[in-house]
Amino acid sequence: MVRKRAIPARTISFRGLNMPVITFANTKGGAGKTTAVLLLATELARKGYRVTILDADPQHWISRWHEISGHVPNISVIDFVTTASLPLHISENKHNTDYFIVDLPGARNPLLATAVGLSDHVLIPIQGCAMDARGGAQVLELLQYLDEKAGIKIGHSVVLTRVNSMVTTRALQLVKSLLSERHVPVLDTAIIERSAFRDIFDCGGTLHTLDPARVSNLDKARENATCFAEEIMSKLPARLTASPRMATAA
Ligand SMILES: Nc1ncnc2c1ncn2[C@@H]1O[C@H](COP(=O)(O)OP(=O)(O)OP(=O)(O)O)[C@@H](O)[C@H]1O
Ligand SMILES: [Mg+2]
Repeated sequence: MVRKRAIPARTISFRGLNMPVITFANTKGGAGKTTAVLLLATELARKGYRVTILDADPQHWISRWHEISGHVPNISVIDFVTTASLPLHISENKHNTDYFIVDLPGARNPLLATAVGLSDHVLIPIQGCAMDARGGAQVLELLQYLDEKAGIKIGHSVVLTRVNSMVTTRALQLVKSLLSERHVPVLDTAIIERSAFRDIFDCGGTLHTLDPARVSNLDKARENATCFAEEIMSKLPARLTASPRMATAA
């Protein structure tokens, strides 16, 4: 059953006008939002795009990562993002950013409707084979509500996360087709469970500054992150005015 919700005000929408705003949302904690945000941001930055991460996760993992990393070319992080400040941050930074990425809390929160209403695309990380998709379903329900009640259509996709590397392509294909049958768009690239994706939070930097001698399967982790970012870029190219800048040390 769909409960009555506040519809985000259209007047503050930036969708389609400026640089793509991508929000990661799942009201279930631990789905892999923050990890996916960092992978996408660092890959886009490596390709030379300026990325602003809006950190609304109360655990501030991205802000802590940024603190220990020092300067990461092409990446800015804004911490303590609230429902009131989110539109302002986007408005103030739209001329110096090619992609905005919003990391939301893992709980129902008024920020969800605001961020979704400002987004060009909502990515819903769902843990690959756990099939506990309730948190993701709440986000999908909100998107459906905005479409039906207010005619606001926001692009969205599920991204399967923390998928065990031993899971066969066939099993993964089955999960994807189950979701597709319910008309839920699913990214082709699933984010695999890799220790490298945890290590970047501990060590700072990016997958490309980690030491391959110390991190297992780093090459596979890098390849996975690149495929993930490229699939999103193909759906959401940076605006034509954006031209990639050389990233020197990402
Ligand atoms: N692909 C992955 N490979 C390995 N570990 C992962 C992966 N994705 C997430 N994790 C780990 O799972 C835990 C939860 O992930 P993460 O913090 O990204 O989820 P979240 O959805 O942002 O959580 P919250 O809702 O609490 O903000 C973290 O310890 C993270 O390191
Ligand atoms: Mg998080």
